[in-house]
Amino acid sequence: MRHAVIMAGGSGTRLWPLSRAARPKQLLDVVAEPGGGAHSLLAEAFTRLRSVLPAEQIWVCTAARYGEQVLSCLPELGADRLILEPVARDTANAVGLAAALVADVDPDAELAVVSADHVIRPVEAFAAALETAYAVLAARPRALVTLGITPTSPATGFGYVQKGGPTEVPGAAEAASFREKPDLATAQGYLASGQYLWNSGMFVWRARTVLDALAEHLPESAAVLEQVVAAPAGPERDAVLAEVFPSCPKISVDYAVLEPAAAEPGRVVVVDLDVDWLDVGSWPALAGTLDTDDAGNAVRGLAVLLDSSGNVVFSDDPEHLLALVGVRDSIVVHTADVTMVAPVSEAERVKALLAEVGTRH
Ligand code: GDD
Ligand code: MG
Repeated sequence: MRHAVIMAGGSGTRLWPLSRAARPKQLLDVVAEPGGGAHSLLAEAFTRLRSVLPAEQIWVCTAARYGEQVLSCLPELGADRLILEPVARDTANAVGLAAALVADVDPDAELAVVSADHVIRPVEAFAAALETAYAVLAARPRALVTLGITPTSPATGFGYVQKGGPTEVPGAAEAASFREKPDLATAQGYLASGQYLWNSGMFVWRARTVLDALAEHLPESAAVLEQVVAAPAGPERDAVLAEVFPSCPKISVDYAVLEPAAAEPGRVVVVDLDVDWLDVGSWPALAGTLDTDDAGNAVRGLAVLLDSSGNVVFSDDPEHLLALVGVRDSIVVHTADVTMVAPVSEAERVKALLAEVGTRH
């Protein structure tokens, strides 16, 4: 049967001070609605999957401390479809845990893995790409399928998939190689070659296939996951998980599985995802979800701007006015206890800034 799991355990540090450890970006109502309201990226990811699957086939994998917030954000999600990690061990282990628990319920499960932090339009094109990816599994049961996006810049925060020969499924090609987060010069070369797609961070595979790939490429984690599912579901399994999961090496599925697996010809397959796609990972990316004025200022909240252009201005307090004069290409964010100012060009360093701030905020 078809299943999907939303990876929702990231901490969203580059969107500080809006995104906080106790309430990360995927749970915040940052996606503006035409009527004036807003909803969370997680709710958007769930609704998007609901156009393809019934609610019982949708799972969410997140940190234990976000469990209650996730359930209140997603009224349709069953409590037995919520997978809680005792500690964050990055996506290789989150994906592995989800695959092990889904396979425990449905050994033949075909599992889509999607991110919680994407805005994708139109949803119909996403649904069609997912159909194509599931169709690849009918022809190639051992395939690791990734959904790929046509790149528009030499971004260094993404994975890159090199397109190889065609497969038997239209819209799906074999991946010739996979490279996670290359340096700028490499990314520029990839973009110029026209042979590469961005890895969207969304995958489709049989749960068993990805567990086999982990056994091959990340055996420490595979051994941990076997211990977890060997315990009977319920409090006993939760106790084993809490004890053994922290020993998994912290690594993403892109480095741990996709990069080495792509070296095996025909193992990784890429399906074109032809959509407007935004990974809402940083302030300039979040600005892409906001209305922009004639001077290129993206504004949310109460603000007055004079002779200012190219700014990202965000306030979460409707009473608090942000006033800018002669300011260019800057990020200005106001929250109840923190004000953050940075040039747009330094947006990636917000993570380093937060490390400097420490745990105080
Ligand atoms: N459950 C769980 N546990 N989820 C996690 C964890 C974890 O430990 N770490 C991250 N996630 C979730 C995030 O919330 C997000 O939805 C998704 O997994 C991807 O994690 P990111 O941390 O946002 O990854 P990235 O953006 O650096 O890179 C990935 O996505 C890019 C596209 O957005 C990679 O797959 C890249 O190759 C890809 O281009
Ligand atoms: Mg991301």
